[in-house]
Amino acid sequence: MPNYDFNDRMLSLGLARVSEAAALASAGWIGRGDEKAADQAAVNAMRDQLNKLDISGTVVIGEGERDEAPMLYIGEEVGTGSGPEVDIALDPLEGTTLTAKDMPNALTVIAMAGRGAMLHAPDVYMDKLAIGPGFRNGIVTLDMSAAERVSALATAKGCSTHDITVCVLERPRHEEMIAELRTTDCAIRLITDGDVAGIIHCADADRTGIDMYMGSGGAPEGVLAAAALKCMGGQMYGKLLFRNDDEKGRAQKAGITNFGRVYTRDDLVSGDVIFAATGVTDGSVVDGIRREPGYLTTETILMRSKTGSVRRMIYRNPVGRS
Ligand code: FBP
Repeated sequence: MPNYDFNDRMLSLGLARVSEAAALASAGWIGRGDEKAADQAAVNAMRDQLNKLDISGTVVIGEGERDEAPMLYIGEEVGTGSGPEVDIALDPLEGTTLTAKDMPNALTVIAMAGRGAMLHAPDVYMDKLAIGPGFRNGIVTLDMSAAERVSALATAKGCSTHDITVCVLERPRHEEMIAELRTTDCAIRLITDGDVAGIIHCADADRTGIDMYMGSGGAPEGVLAAAALKCMGGQMYGKLLFRNDDEKGRAQKAGITNFGRVYTRDDLVSGDVIFAATGVTDGSVVDGIRREPGYLTTETILMRSKTGSVRRMIYRNPVGRS
């Protein structure tokens, strides 16, 4: 068997094709009000394309447990089986509702790392906190209150709290935190869905205007966001949140025993990783799908943590020709 390194540069280009394929498949469902159909189209296409890659891949973050998801379930073996042994984390459509409603920042997302390098996060919530690169480690922590985090970041940036923008998922569970943030005079970018994009925004604050992300969202999405930040730079902390014993059971099944652990970015993704995301609807990370007669055009961001390379790829896809 050829001795591939999973960081193989050509393999990373293959990963971009996987995320492109999922985005192209969901294009017809943008703004059609059908989240399930949009997701299914992306899942089918991502799986088909992933199975063409010369990898012995195992899905560690996927569409759910085997009994809940027939495709791209956790533990599914993917790829041709003739390449390196890798773990795959994916979300074929991050922001199904955003897609169905044609709202910004829906993405297709996939990350690939060596065996065991990504936390097998169960499908529970995670308390998340992220900032971009260039700050001393630990200037903001999950232990701090929301207001303390804003002050600490403003001090580190040498600006006033008024000049800090925090991104938060708009949910009733975040009302108290939002009220506390308001007392600091910071700006809050409320998003209705899509916290992978929300966190990625912090790594490119000049472009996106977002300095910090905080609040709870899906734990699997937390691992995907950590993979992106590992490539782009930036700090992230995550703590699993359990609402009942069933959720704790899911974590135990995934090999997690310390339920109170705070994971850093590098605990969530401990080895080198390749990350690809393609825009479905327009966003500040990547443009959404553009249509013109006979063509669909996508933008993909492809990054490798080993080199810190960030590649943006525009693909003008002739529809109906192969
Ligand atoms: P879907 O793509 O499955 O719709 O998830 C979108 C999302 O907004 C994630 O980005 C986020 O982590 C999670 O849902 C938040 O969950 P909830 O909607 O339960 O607050």
